[in-house]
Amino acid sequence: MSWKPTAKSVTASHLWGSLAFRLTAGYALAGLFLVFFSSVGLYWVLVSELESSTDLFLEDKVLVLRTMLRDRPEDENALHEEVELESAARRYEQFYIRLLDDRSATLMTTPGIADQVDLGRLVALTRYRPDRTFRITGKQGKSFRVRSAAAPVGPTATRVDTIEIAVDVSQQESLLARFRYWFWAILSATFAVYPLIAYRIARQGIRPLEEMATTARHISSTNLHERIQLEGYPYELASLARTFNQMLNRLEESFERISRFSADIAHDLRTPVNNIRGEAEVALARARGAGAYREVIESCLEESVRLSDLIGDLLFLARAESPLTHLRREMVDVSELLGKVREYYEASAADGGITLGTVIPSEPVMAELDRALMQRAVGNLASNALANTQPGGRVVLETHTETSMIHIEVSDTGIGIPAEALPKVFDRFFRVDSSRSQSSGGTGLGLAIVQSIALLHGGSVSISSEEGKGTRVSLHLPINSFLK
Ligand SMILES: Nc1ncnc2c1ncn2[C@@H]1O[C@H](COP(=O)(O)OP(=O)(O)OP(=O)(O)O)[C@@H](O)[C@H]1O
Ligand SMILES: [Mg+2]
Repeated sequence: MSWKPTAKSVTASHLWGSLAFRLTAGYALAGLFLVFFSSVGLYWVLVSELESSTDLFLEDKVLVLRTMLRDRPEDENALHEEVELESAARRYEQFYIRLLDDRSATLMTTPGIADQVDLGRLVALTRYRPDRTFRITGKQGKSFRVRSAAAPVGPTATRVDTIEIAVDVSQQESLLARFRYWFWAILSATFAVYPLIAYRIARQGIRPLEEMATTARHISSTNLHERIQLEGYPYELASLARTFNQMLNRLEESFERISRFSADIAHDLRTPVNNIRGEAEVALARARGAGAYREVIESCLEESVRLSDLIGDLLFLARAESPLTHLRREMVDVSELLGKVREYYEASAADGGITLGTVIPSEPVMAELDRALMQRAVGNLASNALANTQPGGRVVLETHTETSMIHIEVSDTGIGIPAEALPKVFDRFFRVDSSRSQSSGGTGLGLAIVQSIALLHGGSVSISSEEGKGTRVSLHLPINSFLK
């Protein structure tokens, strides 16, 4: 038989998963604890206050009687007044006094004491330890606080009598009982009402979160422009909402970029395919000579090369994004690498009437790089510079090191890039003037590839440009792979 969670355990874990439930439980427990402990504290203060006021009263009486017995033992009248009359006049908090001689024989008592207190028991309690205070229950169920004290008689202490005073504290007891009754009543009421109040507070506290969740639930790729309204939220949640909105901004931006990217891919793939198809259709429309077919095939080949270059670039970018991509790092002399790129582009620079030069430190500039990728990056930069520089202009490839970094820069005196386009030049398929670049064969992937290569090396790329003056693109790379 397989074990199935009972309905009860599922509900309990479900409840504990709820923030409202946890807050409610927390508030309610805190409230109950507060009421419980403050009431217990007050009760304790009340008990000790009552007890100490009774003890003060008893102490006072003992002092008076002791003084009388010591100073005026022969003044029976005064003693009589104190022991027999004064307490009898009281209605509440009655007290009873008994005076015993040194053989425990009763000398004088408040009338009625025998009805209230078990005198034999009293003697047994005080005989061996006359000086003490304690509590007893009287014959009629009343509570008494008793003080017994030794009292030397006469200035020379001819005899030591015992004073016993029992004060009726049943009024206090019933006050405390009433207190306990109300204590439990209030605690039960708190127990019933507090969770409700706590639940309301908790719900109110998390309502903005729920509203936020509702908004978030509605957001999909078709309405990525929706945002959470910040008004009315407490500031802690407003900052969460703001962060969430910022995340949506980024998502929207990436989403737009991806859709633009897909549209651009489709467009850029379609053009060469259409060209090939058009040429083939025209060629097949009627019979032609070998020379004409040759021309068509050459043109198709050219378009196919463009197409496969484009696909190659896209594949490269897709792979560069994969975390599994590894570089084939080796010690590369960057001056030598720049020299090779210059050699490669020298002919086309000469064709365009552009001076292509290098500025290289005298000593070798060594860095741990992927040679092929770096050659491709610098090649892309050189090709951009040459494509955007008029005849008579200059393109310079240079490098220098700085502590742990190596910088490779390609600068030109070309047409430059408008400031508003500058932040977008590293985007895939971005071309400043798409009509112009299209005719010159650019697909807008060159700088995206350069950026990917820089990032793969743990470095970065930056660009500065001024329209009509020229452009400078810099690669900043760590010299050693472990510095990445
Ligand atoms: N040195 C530069 N001077 C002026 N504009 C430049 C320069 N480098 C790049 N750009 C502009 O930035 C755009 C993007 O460059 P990128 O290298 O990514 O694409 P591309 O050169 O058009 O195409 P591809 O390099 O893929 O063949 C270019 O179309 C061009 O308008
Ligand atoms: Mg380019």
